Amino acid sequence: MNILQIRGGRPLIGEVDVAGSKNSALAILSAVLLAEGVTVLHNVPNVSDTRIKASLLERFGAKVDWVEGSLFIDCTNISLAELDEETVRLIRTSFYLLGPLVARLGRAVLPAPGGCKIGERPVDFHLKGLALLGAKVELTNGRYIAETPGLVGTEIYLDFPSAGATQHLMSTAVLAKGVTVIQNAAVEPEVTTLAEFLNRMGARIEGAGTSTVTIMGVKSLVPCEFRVPSDRLQAGTYLLAGAITGGDVMVRGVLPENQTALANKLREANVEVDEGPDWVRASAPNRMKGIRVKTMPYPGFPTDIQQPMAACLCLAEGNSVIEETIYESRTGHVSELARMGAKLRAEGGRTVSITGVERLNGANVEASDLRAGAALVLAGLVAQGETNVRNIHFIDRGYQDLEANLRSLGADIERRSIGIDAEHGVESEG
Ligand code: EPU
Repeated sequence: MNILQIRGGRPLIGEVDVAGSKNSALAILSAVLLAEGVTVLHNVPNVSDTRIKASLLERFGAKVDWVEGSLFIDCTNISLAELDEETVRLIRTSFYLLGPLVARLGRAVLPAPGGCKIGERPVDFHLKGLALLGAKVELTNGRYIAETPGLVGTEIYLDFPSAGATQHLMSTAVLAKGVTVIQNAAVEPEVTTLAEFLNRMGARIEGAGTSTVTIMGVKSLVPCEFRVPSDRLQAGTYLLAGAITGGDVMVRGVLPENQTALANKLREANVEVDEGPDWVRASAPNRMKGIRVKTMPYPGFPTDIQQPMAACLCLAEGNSVIEETIYESRTGHVSELARMGAKLRAEGGRTVSITGVERLNGANVEASDLRAGAALVLAGLVAQGETNVRNIHFIDRGYQDLEANLRSLGADIERRSIGIDAEHGVESEG
């Protein structure tokens, strides 16, 4: 088993480049199926979620080559395949393959998806939208079977601006006959990026990034070359690493407008935040102050940053409250931060109340999901003594080069392999 071993207490100072966006890459890695030929994607983050997604494409007949940070994906020969439930359940976006496959082949079969355990994550918006587009989808023995005699443009209203449903339905509607309008669409940057990618392939999408997306169906798409933009969530995590350690971290290669909610809440919490055309910098010469944070769809405060933010607020002066409005129970970090001496409690799955303490102590803690893992690493960076974060496969889903980047900023962090001595039930280093 791998762990991250952190000896805390060093302020993080310096500059860091951020890898490509996991969530953009995952959405694009469904849409690639729509065009015959070789699509080239640059700046794809090398994290386990993208590797799994690429392996799923191979199961449908795509040829995938990683050349450093670029992916060459040949989707000339795509055919139906029976995928095993275990692999499909590893990532949520496996489900976003259903629409593009049915658009291209007229039929698709996929086991139900998985993803981080942060509450119930239904796919009803996806299913309603696919049905409106003319795909008949049935769930039989844990597998979704979708069929269509031909997709037809339609009007779709989403009950909630779901990023995934907007991306999935956009990627399906591009080959439908006629015009599709998605109302109450998500406006996340990853939706805009996907639309840019699809348009580069010859799709005709307007309004992405607003709540009304219009898709004029086209007969076919062509492969293209595309660069995945940098990851706003990894960027946010490094800014928080600067803040929690009382350091000064500049993230480069990011769009400051994608960090607006975080930057403003950090300023409210007594952190200095500056920005330039493609960088954001956070420094915390003084102790942070407690604040209230409420997660919202973009451009609101990102749910994916609330757990790392909670780690920072554990050390802030005074009380803080974090309200999670997107997911039912994204609070797996709470009990583990408490093991490090933080004073916080979850009220239901949606509210976390925090009373700031002056210091955290190193401890053995377990990541319960990707962003909970990031929160524990941040806490470890500032805790006195040694913190060992286990279950780091969750962190590896979404952070490329995490230890190397943090080390370049001055952190004392290492990946270690430990074994469990089965006879005595104790850990030994391996
Ligand atoms: N929802 C439904 N029905 C649906 C779809 C969504 O009720 O058919 C609900 C969800 O249960 C949730 C809310 O709508 O309560 C929002 O979910 P959304 O569909 O927007 O999330 P997602 O597309 O499944 C993506 C990211 C998440 C990120 C959310 C919100 C990917 C692969 N995942 O998930 O990222 O939290 O958008 O921005 O793009 C992460 O990176 O750690 C992560 C979990």
